Amino acid sequence: MALTPSVAFSAPSVPVEGVLVLLVGEGLDVPAHMAASFGDLVTRAAGAAKFKGKLLSSAEILSPADGALDKLVLLGIKGQEPLTEEDWLKLGGSIVAHSKGASSVTIAGAYGAQEAALLAQGAILRAYDFDIYKSRKPTEGEQADDKPKDAPSTLSFQLDAADAARAAYAVVEPVGEGVVLARNLVNEPANILTTVEYARRIEELRDFGLEVEILDEDAMRALKMFALLGVAQGSDSPARMAIIRWNGGAEGEAPLAFVGKGVVFDTGGISIKPAAGMEDMKGDMGGSAAVVGLMRALAGRKAKVNAVGVVGLVENAVDGRAQRPGDIVRAMSGTTIEVLNTDAEGRLVLADALWYTQDRFKPQFMVNLATLTGAIIVALGNHYAGLFANDDTLAQRLSAAGDATGEKVWRLPLAKEYDKMIEGKFADIRNIGGGRAAGSITAAQFLKRFVNDVPWAHLDVAGTAMGSPSNEYNQSWASGFGVRLLNRLVADHYEAR
Ligand code: BES
Ligand code: MN
Ligand code: ZN
Repeated sequence: MALTPSVAFSAPSVPVEGVLVLLVGEGLDVPAHMAASFGDLVTRAAGAAKFKGKLLSSAEILSPADGALDKLVLLGIKGQEPLTEEDWLKLGGSIVAHSKGASSVTIAGAYGAQEAALLAQGAILRAYDFDIYKSRKPTEGEQADDKPKDAPSTLSFQLDAADAARAAYAVVEPVGEGVVLARNLVNEPANILTTVEYARRIEELRDFGLEVEILDEDAMRALKMFALLGVAQGSDSPARMAIIRWNGGAEGEAPLAFVGKGVVFDTGGISIKPAAGMEDMKGDMGGSAAVVGLMRALAGRKAKVNAVGVVGLVENAVDGRAQRPGDIVRAMSGTTIEVLNTDAEGRLVLADALWYTQDRFKPQFMVNLATLTGAIIVALGNHYAGLFANDDTLAQRLSAAGDATGEKVWRLPLAKEYDKMIEGKFADIRNIGGGRAAGSITAAQFLKRFVNDVPWAHLDVAGTAMGSPSNEYNQSWASGFGVRLLNRLVADHYEAR
């Protein structure tokens, strides 16, 4: 996967063409090697533009000085110190926003190796555009298959520690690639990304050193995964479960487990959804895409950890064999479930995926991600994912990782009063709480029935995996939410150093 624009780190020098971006703080402190050429210009332009170096503020000077450069951009970095990982991503995104269509962009300022790597990641994520299905007429001199984007073609970050920046980016780049992979999977329409095609794309990850196993329906029947299989039975796309393993840690060390809801399209089933907005349900596999992207990231940066990703891939469709309201299914755990609403299908998929994961891998913890409930959007909008956990340490670590990366999570309660709301009438439990009260919590209580005392957290990403407001480093419908969050969780607490 070649990411655009291409990124380079180099020693300071005065650029002779293209766009120059200077990252400056309060004192309008131009890097020493730029002072002779641009110092006075910056002072005067900043005065005219009332530019004071405030974080993410900017001033543009077209054709500066002798006119060799196309543009000089001042980008402010004076914010709450120290700047967060997300601040640097936003700055990187802004660099791209200010250099649309440029061929070469040079960046200089007071930043170190790690910051340079994050600037580059922010730039890559900003430049991402899911345009593979857009036919465009070639303009003069272009081949029909050339697809120039608005994005600049090369970014050159200048700093003394260029070698260290290259080393830092070798760790950061695969994470960006994981985010891009997750975004691509979520943006793909469901006629292309069927369950079978999704499994095939996951199998391609073997190229990065990941072990991939795919369970088909016969294998899942043998394991008695009838909660998951019931969801899939109304679709022509057969269910799959993918198990993705990265063994970068000590042999025999229990893995970290990440579990994802991979509903490639959610019609609602017999409890069918309204037509308006149903197209968004191509993204109902966003939780699984984050798991896949995370595994890709861990492998790419050779994380010193054992991890397993498990994703349940189904389509919730309607035909004569589709599951009905009132049907009773027995999950792999033995728990019987009354399916009162076929649109509450994600929890049925996760019930078997979670039970299978803890049963087979005895993990240190399980974190699952799912576009599980519309109710989480009512509660938190598109800015925070819902967090539910049976373990305070895990919850606290996820919150901290969220604050650092900007993939923020907010904890909501689990309690026996909510658990009572899913008691079954004809079976052990039912798949909805009844009424609209606490819809995200009753869904989480349902999942909790299948985690068997393993430290566990559930992230409800219905509002954040897709359709979240665009920002400096994301202009795409699919955000890739969860990849950077969980990568940080792993890096900060679970890797051997
Ligand atoms: N995939 C949906 C949740 C969803 C809604 C995701 C909007 C993204 C955007 C999920 O399967 C669903 O349909 N949930 C129902 C549950 C209800 C029937 C208890 C919901 O939220 O309405
Ligand atoms: Mn649904
Ligand atoms: Zn769904």
